[in-house]
Amino acid sequence: MPKPGIFVTRNIPQPALDRLEEVFSLSIHASDQAITRAQLLAAVKESEALLCLLTDTIDRELLDAAPKLKCVSNLAVGYNNIDLEYASSRNIVVCNTPGVLTESTADLTWALLLACARRVVEGDSFVRAGRFEGWGPMLMLGVDVFAKTIGIIGMGRIGSAVARRAEGFGMKVLWFDPLIDPQTVSAKYERTDLRHLCASSDFISIHAPLTPATRHLINAELLALMRPHTVLVNTARGPIVNEAALIEALRDNGIFAAGLDVFEHEPEIPAELLAQDNAVLLPHIGSASVETRTKMALMAAENAIAVIQGTEPPARVN
Ligand code: GLV
Repeated sequence: MPKPGIFVTRNIPQPALDRLEEVFSLSIHASDQAITRAQLLAAVKESEALLCLLTDTIDRELLDAAPKLKCVSNLAVGYNNIDLEYASSRNIVVCNTPGVLTESTADLTWALLLACARRVVEGDSFVRAGRFEGWGPMLMLGVDVFAKTIGIIGMGRIGSAVARRAEGFGMKVLWFDPLIDPQTVSAKYERTDLRHLCASSDFISIHAPLTPATRHLINAELLALMRPHTVLVNTARGPIVNEAALIEALRDNGIFAAGLDVFEHEPEIPAELLAQDNAVLLPHIGSASVETRTKMALMAAENAIAVIQGTEPPARVN
């Protein structure tokens, strides 16, 4: 019997490709650049499985271009790039890669938080520009982290991993998450509403999924509740924050700094944001370690294999 066909939309770690080839006839957009929409529409015509990325829009048009599709395996924990409802109506199984990227993403969140608090990136640029003329009592003052309060928006796997790290910094942890059963969250952490979290936290970190309810959740009104020493970190999805309102808050010193791994219209970043010294900007690398990306790719491969073999995949979302 011929092997079923899978299309992989970009170069991914080799162990996952090797594993896929055991089961599938593999086609790949063998590039580190995103596939174009036209290429993707043409590539999935005969595919029974699709291994795609968060940068690929898997909407109704794309799914209709793939009449034989049984599985969409997303190489990401977030799946807001996929029309889940339409996929479900077509009995297409959608899978993601939860769990394996939790700790890496929590680590990167802390890298951003600390970089913002202590002006690490600004300091590095200052030194490289030849502007360092010696120690100064007023030079590049940041804000302390130890024993402060962190507010976590979204207390799932990644939010909880960020909270665990905060304990090492002697921090008080506040959290907001309307979707989670409070019984599943440690009583050491204080559940609160979003307004109180914004007004009372020295550091705010976002770990919610992007849904219609969380789009622009952090808006001008909530930013106005934050204080001039507050640091906002977003490693979840850009559109959760109203970027125009955030730029204003950064420009007017309404908050101290923002650490952003994600952007509202990725990969476009407004010039006004690029111009802010009090923003640390990263190219969506929350899970980008060799170990984690390999685990994610292998999990995405196992998801697709399980669906095609008629068994339960490690992580299905519909
Ligand atoms: C990355 O942003 C992911 O959702 O895995």
